[in-house]
Amino acid sequence: AEQYENILVERRGRVGLVTLNRPEALNALNKALMDELVAAVSAMDVDPEVGAVVVTGSAKAFAAGADIKEMQSKGYMEMYAADWFRGWEDLTRLRIPIVAAVSGFALGGGCELAMMCDFIIAGDNAKFGQPEINLGVIPGMGGSQRLTHAVGKAKAMDMVLTGRFMGAEEAERAGLVSRVVPAADVVEEALKAAEVIASKSKPVAMVAKEAVNAAFEVGLAQGVLFERRVFHSLFATEDQKEGMAAFSEKRTPEFKHR
Ligand code: CAA
Repeated sequence: AEQYENILVERRGRVGLVTLNRPEALNALNKALMDELVAAVSAMDVDPEVGAVVVTGSAKAFAAGADIKEMQSKGYMEMYAADWFRGWEDLTRLRIPIVAAVSGFALGGGCELAMMCDFIIAGDNAKFGQPEINLGVIPGMGGSQRLTHAVGKAKAMDMVLTGRFMGAEEAERAGLVSRVVPAADVVEEALKAAEVIASKSKPVAMVAKEAVNAAFEVGLAQGVLFERRVFHSLFATEDQKEGMAAFSEKRTPEFKHR
């Protein structure tokens, strides 16, 4: 197995579990951690034995943001030349479904990382925020865009301009998270959801993810047409034949391309 310094990587059945592991910094996201995270999930993306991924942190913090100490003394040219944060969102280009299991703080880049995942299951102790304005900056890992898509202008402006934190219940009401569960169960609940996903046809799950994500990139007519064409293409797969045969025969489908 790969050796990582900032994350722990495990397999639970067909689910890959990645745990951010910089407890001394509340999982602050530095370049080394993000490089490892992207590498680990990229390997799972192409591993036929892995059908879905869960990304989680600790009980206290999913991640308390990008690593402030790593950025503090940098100048404009350094940030620009490195194109700081480029590559970190490579996570969003992977096709495997990724569930974020958030307990405790998901702030700044931590909230942004959770939003790069396909959906968020939150513990009832979760706290989401984009407090960058308190540091004299703004979100830099997509927060101004993904938060606005998720919760709309009113709450996104409120969060980004005041820097206040949003609790789990408000986050669910606003559409930022898909489910709230007791904090102690958040990883198990996310693993269960991921195991359900991993029991489906992997290529079909990937196509489903692409179709939903298209809603954020293209207009309605183009998006609906994309969906319909992709829907047609699935009739070339063995898994469509198996899924529909299993329904007709009143049995559980045995997908080949898991
Ligand atoms: N970067 C670097 N180190 C961090 C960090 C971060 N984002 N967040 C926490 N830490 C470190 C602290 O410096 C501290 O280290 P030391 O023990 O060496 O001092 C350790 O983690 C524990 O943190 P606290 O002692 O502060 O813990 P707390 O329980 O008192 O407070 C907290 C928790 C409210 C989350 C507080 O740590 C905090 O406000 N963190 C920063 C949150 C933030 O501003 N995030 C945005 C970062 S900028 C960004 O993310 C840009 C972007 O858009 C990508």
